[in-house]
Amino acid sequence: MSLSAPAIRARKRSRGDAPIVMLTAYDEPSARYADAAGVDILLVGDSVANVVMGQADTLHVSLDEMAHHVAAVAAAHPRAHIVADMPWLSYHVGAHEAVRSGAQLVRAGAQSVKLEGGHQRREVVRALLDAEIPVMGHLGLTPQSVLAFGGFKVQAKSHDAASLLVQDAVGLQDEGVYAIVIEGVPARVGTEVTAALAIPTIGIGAGPDTDGQVLVFHDLLGMTSRPPARFVRQYAQLGAAITEAIGRYAADVRAGSFPSPAESYPSPEEPA
Ligand code: KIV
Repeated sequence: MSLSAPAIRARKRSRGDAPIVMLTAYDEPSARYADAAGVDILLVGDSVANVVMGQADTLHVSLDEMAHHVAAVAAAHPRAHIVADMPWLSYHVGAHEAVRSGAQLVRAGAQSVKLEGGHQRREVVRALLDAEIPVMGHLGLTPQSVLAFGGFKVQAKSHDAASLLVQDAVGLQDEGVYAIVIEGVPARVGTEVTAALAIPTIGIGAGPDTDGQVLVFHDLLGMTSRPPARFVRQYAQLGAAITEAIGRYAADVRAGSFPSPAESYPSPEEPA
């Protein structure tokens, strides 16, 4: 039985619970590896646009593309909870369309959806919850706001902006979201918003005090072309390991040493 949204909602470090571990996954192998490592939540993030599709921002992934990746992650049948990002424009033009978008992601295999924004999203959150779709919020440096923010910039740096973020978080909690991702804010804001909520916060670049942490699969494993952001800890350099392994394959092919007789099928007349 996989971890449910209500079970995640109940987890709070201030009540003695262990921190929540969340990681992005975009296909069956990444979901299988992450689940085997014991992560709690697999996020089919719209960061697929960056790390899989090579785009500069997350505005370039469609709902159908997200559903395709959700289905691949769900094929791993993980114990972890699967939450799917609602991509840009799938919930911005009205609650009715947002419910249809959320339903498409649920039918593809998601157990909940995540959307970005605070007070301006309350009606949409209510509509999704009315349709029995659990919702995770996302505040702070919300990547779908990159054009409005004028770049990927740390948010809530002033006292007033931090207060507005906390107000938005409390509003989303009152509406019924089960957890909120807090991204790209000073660590003290991560601490403050976590203390203000009864539901868990999951941080990415929000300091050590949130109720959980989330990282992007390719960032954690050293598979990106850009230098990692300040908040990323790389636990492996798989990009270099992949290039090295493929280089050895290419050298073997060019040297004529691959495939060997043991890697070739004998004809029926020949001894195996
Ligand atoms: O899409 C994503 O990877 C995300 C994380 C940054 C939280 O939303």
